[in-house]
Amino acid sequence: MMDRDVDMLIGEVERIISADGERDEKLKKICTLLHDRVEHYDWVGFYLVDREEERMLVLGPFRGEETEHTRIPFGSGICGQAAETGELFLVPDVANEKNYLSCSEKVRSEIVVPIVRGSEMVGELDIDSHRIDPFTEPDRVLLERICQMVSDIL
Ligand code: SME
Repeated sequence: MMDRDVDMLIGEVERIISADGERDEKLKKICTLLHDRVEHYDWVGFYLVDREEERMLVLGPFRGEETEHTRIPFGSGICGQAAETGELFLVPDVANEKNYLSCSEKVRSEIVVPIVRGSEMVGELDIDSHRIDPFTEPDRVLLERICQMVSDIL
């Protein structure tokens, strides 16, 4: 991905967030945008920290195949580990990650970026790819910026 693609996508996400509409509609539009425009993003979804049950993630809007992992405890899988540390978690090859929850046989790599508001972890953006090791610096820049922007509406 080129820097200008990153800038263009950030601009489009900005427009989605500042437009009228429900939060979940906006999150869904962001998923669709990323899924459709970035070739190596094969599943894009938000997990939100549950308000009822402690240390639990709940699947929010997503774009891609249905997943059985609609509730993920902190510490479990790549998503749960990122929730525990509050830090970006990049897995270039899921075959090498023991604590991994598989959604589809086709997935080869994954990146999870926490969404933080103040000092509170409120959710995360999860992306699966069917390629091995496709995520580079522009992905990190793009996804971290989107998570900052999204933190305002979660
Ligand atoms: N693979 C994730 C589970 C969520 S799916 O990728 C949609 C994990 O290990 O936490």
